[in-house]
Parts: sequence; C-alpha cells; structure tokens
Amino acid sequence: MEKISEGKTKEVFSLDNEHVLLRFKDSVTAGDGAKADIIDGKGILNAQTSALLFRLLERDGIETHYVGMKDERTMIVKRLAMIPVEVVLRNYATGSIVKRLPIKEGEAFNPPIVEFFLKDDARHDPLLNYHHMRHLKLMNEEEARLVEEVMVRVNQTLSKVISKMGLILYDFKLEFGRVNGRLVVGDEISLDSMRVRDPTGRILDKDLYRKGYPLDQVKASYVEFLDRLRSVA
Ligand code: CDP
Repeated sequence: MEKISEGKTKEVFSLDNEHVLLRFKDSVTAGDGAKADIIDGKGILNAQTSALLFRLLERDGIETHYVGMKDERTMIVKRLAMIPVEVVLRNYATGSIVKRLPIKEGEAFNPPIVEFFLKDDARHDPLLNYHHMRHLKLMNEEEARLVEEVMVRVNQTLSKVISKMGLILYDFKLEFGRVNGRLVVGDEISLDSMRVRDPTGRILDKDLYRKGYPLDQVKASYVEFLDRLRSVA
C-alpha cells in the first residue's frame, strides 16, 4: 500500500479516493521532536483511545474523520485536506500558556480559552490569530469561528466522559481538515494530545513523558486511562 506521509507518531497510507489508513506507531516524542523514544504497544493504546473518543463525538453529532478500524493500531479515516493548524482548548491553565502569559498554573478558564497554533516544529508552533490565518490562507474568520464552536462541543463530550472516569480534562488539541466544503475533526484524540489529571493533581497524560518519568510508568498510565474509559463509555 502506498505511504502518503509519515509524522512523528503516525503513518498515512492511501486506501481509496475517499479514505486513508492512519497507522499509530509506538514512538513518543516531546519538545517538537527534540526528545523521542519507543514505548511498545503505545500505538495500539492511542489508536484504541482515539477510536473510542471519535465514536463518542460522532454519537454527539460532531463529524470526525473516523470510519472504523483496520487492525488494532490502524484506523480507516476519511481522506481530508488537512489544515496545518493545531487548535487547543483550555479548561485549566498549564503548559505553554502559563509561560506565555501572567496566568497561574491550575487557574480555571470560564469560559474555556481556544487558541490556534501553526503546525511548524522548526518555529516551535507559533500562536496564530485570525489575521495570521487569513494571510497564510489557513482559514478565514468564518471558518475559525466555526472551529471554535466545534471545539466547545468537543469539550462538552470529552469533559463529560472524563469526569465520569473521576478525572479532569485540563486541555486538548485537535486538528481539522476539509472534505466537500465541510470542516471535519481529524488526527487523533489521545493522552498525547490532551492533559488529564485526577482530583489530587496526579498527571495521567504525556506530561509524564515530558517531565522524564520512566517509560513503563508512562505506558501504565495510558493503559489505566483506556481501561477506565472503556468502563464508563
Ligand atoms: O505541550 P506544550 O506545553 O508545548 O503546549 P500547550 O499549548 O500547553 O498544549 C496544549 C495541549 O495541546 C496539550 O494537551 C498538549 O498535549 C497538546 N499539544 C499537542 O497535542 N501537540 C502539540 N504540538 C502541542 C500541544
């Protein structure tokens, strides 16, 4: 099968005119690829977590690229023209925002904050506003507003299920693509792309890896999250 592209954690293969395969690798990276390792089975965990969460979004009427699974680490998805923008929604402050702005770790955002970043590791994913996105022909203001609305609806679905698990969704990142004039949620939704903590502040997501915890502890957390998700979803 023809490989169309390969990123840090996924490979994309051509399936037919309307579909591609997304194969989740076992690699884990941080710092725009500066740090990289292999965690055996991580690709399966992220593929399964993403599939389950995409199905929940679809159930709530949010269009995603998810079609089905080819095998345990390979997703069949709609072929999208991807927009190279990372859209982040934050319920609680952590990560880049507390470095960038005078905002304290753990501060709550009511309503949540949505931010756009250019997907560009060499430039460390710079923050974008509507003007930048229009000039760079990434999306117009109308599309950006629509994306913000979708982010809020996705947040409702994700926050609800994660709260049922006894956990808190701090923030998450989505990527969008276009097909037949529609904006569709693409990429993945896993512990690589969201921050989840328990009520005591224990970290369950990729921040464990970013902070240098042992790889087996990172994996155990991804396993625990998927188990708990399966038990409530
Ligand atoms: O991860 P970092 O502190 O650099 O960035 P952030 O803007 O605080 O990240 C917000 C959310 O987006 C977190 O859940 C990250 O895991 C996720 N993210 C991502 O999935 N991919 C990136 N390249 C950057 C952030």
